[in-house]
Amino acid sequence: MHARDFGRRLAFVLVLGGCHEKASAPAPGASPAATTSTAGGGPVAAGERKLVIGVSQCNLGEPWRVQMNADLKTAARKHPNVTLVFKDAQNDSLRQRAQVEELAAAHVDVLVISPKEAAPLTKPVAEVFHQKIPVIVLDRAVDGDEFTTFVGADNQRIGREAGKLVRELAGARANIVELEGLMTSTPGQDRHKGFREGLDLANHPGLELVFEADMAWLEPNARKEMESALAAHRKIDVVYAHNDPGAHGAYLAAKAAGREHEMKFVGIDALPQEGVRYVKDGILDATFAYPTGGAEAIALALELAAGKTVPHHVTLGTRLYTKANVDQGGEAIQ
Ligand code: FRU
Repeated sequence: MHARDFGRRLAFVLVLGGCHEKASAPAPGASPAATTSTAGGGPVAAGERKLVIGVSQCNLGEPWRVQMNADLKTAARKHPNVTLVFKDAQNDSLRQRAQVEELAAAHVDVLVISPKEAAPLTKPVAEVFHQKIPVIVLDRAVDGDEFTTFVGADNQRIGREAGKLVRELAGARANIVELEGLMTSTPGQDRHKGFREGLDLANHPGLELVFEADMAWLEPNARKEMESALAAHRKIDVVYAHNDPGAHGAYLAAKAAGREHEMKFVGIDALPQEGVRYVKDGILDATFAYPTGGAEAIALALELAAGKTVPHHVTLGTRLYTKANVDQGGEAIQ
């Protein structure tokens, strides 16, 4: 740590940080002033080094991101010397860029970022990295390798497993719909690429991908896109959405059209109160776990702050949840 910076950093936390342990998910349209919050920073034992970790979160409008922040806080709570400073970019890459710059200017000890999109955040991340602030990129990647470490599940692999599963669910002849996550973000790109590999249309001529649209990870968009798919196709057999909110939006559109029983729905994320619940309730046929990496990010931040070297990539696992295995806690994908 740069001792000279500690006072400045602390002032930053106090001035911008607002309330201790208060989340800052503002209502849509709320002022950007509400986009910072802090957590942690309890009494520190004599001689223990204080650590400020800046967290740049791309949005808090989706349950999975709220879970990521909660996982970061839970892991940090075990370390009273750690204070987390959260920034919520409210799904705006330019705002996220400005917030990354603010955190760097405040000399956080480590930056954790889950970027909205790869291209616009690549340079800001590289700049922080070159200022010798360790940067942990979480879940969505940036381009190139100018960051300290990336933590996340293998989205191409999850997509590939989803493709194989959709092929099994579809049978010999089927019309398939793909609702994509934001295609300027790496999980969207990778879940799409892997899906096409797993589906292997070239060797399965009875399968047809009849509709494909970018729903930008958002349930209302997925619902709207699915309405178009339903209007254009009299028969749809399987819907693959890049996340559970997307799969649920598609289900709601099918239900409103009285067609939900005609097709199967597959999603990704598997939050207990979201995707796993949908599988239990018979809404989704399957979902794949997408771990937030919050606990791993805190562990890595502590190692980096202690001057240790960490791997450049940390790949997290996944699990498959179906009707058949959901009550047993799903099954690991080996
Ligand atoms: C939340 C989310 C998740 C998805 C992840 C991909 O913002 O859309 O549903 O799995 O981002 O980065």
